Amino acid sequence: MTSHWILGPGAIGRLLAHSLSPFTDTTLIGRRALPEQQHLTTPEGEERIQRLASVTAAELTSHPLPAPGFVHITTKAMAAEAVLASIADVVAPTTPLVLWQNGFLAQPRITQTWPGPVLCATTTQGAYLTGDGGVVHAGRGPTFIGDLDNQHAVLAEALAALLSEANFTATAVGDIRQRLWQKLAVNAAINPLVALNGVRNGELRGDAYAGRLAAVVKEVAAILKQENIAPPNGGKNEDAWLALVWQVVENTANNKASMLQDVEAKRPTERGAILGPLIDSAERHGLQCGVLKELDSELAKLEAEF
Ligand code: PAF
Repeated sequence: MTSHWILGPGAIGRLLAHSLSPFTDTTLIGRRALPEQQHLTTPEGEERIQRLASVTAAELTSHPLPAPGFVHITTKAMAAEAVLASIADVVAPTTPLVLWQNGFLAQPRITQTWPGPVLCATTTQGAYLTGDGGVVHAGRGPTFIGDLDNQHAVLAEALAALLSEANFTATAVGDIRQRLWQKLAVNAAINPLVALNGVRNGELRGDAYAGRLAAVVKEVAAILKQENIAPPNGGKNEDAWLALVWQVVENTANNKASMLQDVEAKRPTERGAILGPLIDSAERHGLQCGVLKELDSELAKLEAEF
């Protein structure tokens, strides 16, 4: 049986472990030990208790486990490379990785440096933790899996099939780069503004924020054009990006976006993985990105106060 290691027992990591455990050998790996009995609340409100295998990264060195078939990295974007380095001595460098991060920072870097296959996943599954022993699966959504160089379609299909069998609906795709940037574009338009202003997504529709949101989307659309990322829904330009962002704002009006949750918990935000690649790309292509840079430095100032 192919075993799966999940590095980063946050909400998506634990949801993945709950889904895969009944089907295949699965181990959660984190910095701290977790209770063996783990609770899951399904989107339908059902409570399930399952024993999930978990070890700390330190224990892996002293008590090695059998070699994994897949290593999933489900940490925040800025922690992905460090967590991979922390297990590099105990996994073969040919082991397939699956990167579940937001943004577009960890994915190209790890793809370049890891000798084995590197799959990237983007998911719209909604989940949050209720403590060391519980996760709430708040909403189901599709997951897409592929690799940046389109060299590992068979592996992506095998993983998508296993996840789908585990009721974690997933599809292997040949355009994961497009999908990661598309998600990044939406995140860049919503997350920094709600995090800086302490508001829920729906409040961006108000006069106080709508103009700045449109200014962000204008810069993002020009950058994505240079990155050869097609506008969404067969649209042609900035208007298509703006329409997508307003649609997501509408659909998630009552949400506290992930970056706002980070700011409220005084955790570092994912600005480096979301705004960073956009600002880098703008600079490479000689494009204006004053609004994005302003958001990035306002967030940096806020984080410095934590
Ligand atoms: O990061 C998030 O919270 C979500 O990606 C989004 C789309 C901004 C909705 O809250």
